[in-house]
Amino acid sequence: MNILVNDDYASMSQQAAAIIEAHICNHERTVLGLATGSTPLGMYEALIEGHQTRGVSFKRTFTLNLDEYIGLQPSHPQSYHYYMQHHLFSKIDIPLHQTYLPNGTAQSLSDECSRYEQIIDEVGPPDIQVLGIGENGHIGFNEPGSDFSGTTHVIDLAPSTLKANARFFHTVDEVPNKAITMGIQSILKSKRILLLASGENKAWAVKKLMEKIIDDQFPASALHHHPDVTLVIDQKAYSQIQSDRG
Ligand code: F6R
Repeated sequence: MNILVNDDYASMSQQAAAIIEAHICNHERTVLGLATGSTPLGMYEALIEGHQTRGVSFKRTFTLNLDEYIGLQPSHPQSYHYYMQHHLFSKIDIPLHQTYLPNGTAQSLSDECSRYEQIIDEVGPPDIQVLGIGENGHIGFNEPGSDFSGTTHVIDLAPSTLKANARFFHTVDEVPNKAITMGIQSILKSKRILLLASGENKAWAVKKLMEKIIDDQFPASALHHHPDVTLVIDQKAYSQIQSDRG
């Protein structure tokens, strides 16, 4: 596991985008695994800037998102479909039929899980999977206690995740309490993983990850089973490691 520590959120975002841009520019076809939430927003802005100012084209890029809330229509402003459309897809030249997210409003969620896993196998695996990390160590929505051999599945969100994500809704009661998420095994199929973390609220999780103790109560520790993981973080997210080292 490599770790790249940037001064701040802006340089972390630029660095992550530069890694993705370099892959797109040097390959015929790129498959990206994508995350939502606050952390990758700056990276998406930097990718859009690359498209607008350097002519980077996403016409031969395919995307597979990690997760979606159950019960939110794609038109709901807090759905991850809406997020991706608003923060990235509508601002670059990616053909929309090359973008995939799990459908959180499918009639049969178990069929949807199988369908999405099949898509991951047919379109992917991602050349680069972007991950954020929950304060409790979740990746995708694989909450503490998740099975490391899990594929795409429905999950009950942990109370701490509902609380953390309440900032996007009017009240915590509006946060859907279930999501459909790629499993840890699905994530580990990716060829390369970039885990982004920014801010002091992620410092504990980053420190715990760097302890290299594999524990299903800390889902991100499953990444130690993957041969090519890079943490792209900022100083604040690194701060607990730094303070331990004096
Ligand atoms: C989102 C996702 C989550 C987030 C994590 C961190 O698609 O899979 O694992 O990456 O909850 O969220 P932020 O970046 O909002 O702190």
